[in-house]
Order: sequence, then C-alpha cells, then structure tokens
Amino acid sequence: MGEGMSLKRLLRLSAAVAMAALMSGTAQAQIARFSDEEVIARGKRVYDANCLACHGVDAGGITEDWHIPDAQGRYPPPPLNGTAHTWHHPIQALAHVIREGTQKQGGSMPAWKDRLTDEDVFSVIMYLSSLWPDEIYQAWAERHEP
Ligand code: HEC
Repeated sequence: MGEGMSLKRLLRLSAAVAMAALMSGTAQAQIARFSDEEVIARGKRVYDANCLACHGVDAGGITEDWHIPDAQGRYPPPPLNGTAHTWHHPIQALAHVIREGTQKQGGSMPAWKDRLTDEDVFSVIMYLSSLWPDEIYQAWAERHEP
C-alpha cells in the first residue's frame, strides 16, 4: 500500500511539473509587441509616401488576386497587413526585399536602398507588423527572436 501511495504521489507530482512547464512555456512564447509609437508613426509616413500606391491603404492590398501571377509570371503586390504571407519572413528577409526589390528576379517590387535609410526600412517594417493581429505577430516574432 505504501508503494501504491508513493506512485500516485509521484504521478501527481510529475503532472504538476509538466503543467508548470507547459504554463511557463506559454508565458515565454508571448513576446512583447514592439510599441515605440514614434518609430511606428515614422514607418507609416514612409509607407504612405512610398508603398501605399502598390500595397494599398493601410497595407490592405489593391487586389484579392495577389497570389495569381500575370502572363509574364509577375505577381501583383500583396497586402502587407497580415492577411498574406509577409509574416512568414523574418525581419531580416523583409528588410532584404524592401532594400533590393524583386526586379532582378523578374518581379515588380522596386528597390528602395537608394531612397530609404536603414532606419526608414526598420520603421516601415515595424509599422506593418503593428497592423498584424496578435497570433500572427507572435508567430512572426518567434522567427527572429534571438
Ligand atoms: C511599384 C509597386 C510597388 C511599390 C511602390 C512597392 N512594392 Fe512591395 N511589392 C510589390 C510587388 C509586385 C511585390 C510582390 C513580389 C514580386 O514582385 O514578386 C511586393 C512585395 C513586397 C514585400 C514582400 C511581401 C511578402 O509577403 O513576401 C514586401 C515586404 C514589400 N513589398 C514591402 C514594400 C514596402 C515597405 C514598400 C515601400 C517602401 C513597397 N513594398 C513598395 C510592388 C511594390
């Protein structure tokens, strides 16, 4: 009987440990959202001046068919507000697309490296990510968390 009790206690204990691990795991996964309003406001100014014409008001895109290429194989500009797959790319990859564009690969996104500073590029990415719902922001942030 002594043994039975201790086994039960052991099981209860390991369940408690597993639960605690699970809960702290969940807590760790919550990465604080970037919240520097000045940077986000600067990013919106950069966006409205340079990107809005192609990627739409509030980054909502200009066509629902952004995933369908034209006869030359070029894709229309996707929305950048979290409804397309912008958030699949870590911050470095987004900065690369914005700096270099996609014209060398046959796409139609212009390069911005001669027109925007690194700070502009960072600000515009933080503005865009500020538009994303929490789950999407978290999934994105986990991709480039150190
Ligand atoms: C002339 C139209 C045009 C302008 C202006 C433009 N883009 Fe794009 N952008 C595109 C197109 C088209 C694509 C799709 C990639 C391709 O060419 O295949 C794209 C793709 C992107 C992507 C990758 C999205 C993804 O989900 O992979 C990002 C990020 C992006 N643009 C950001 C910007 C930012 C920031 C600006 C302003 C500084 C900007 N774009 C200005 C046309 C444009």
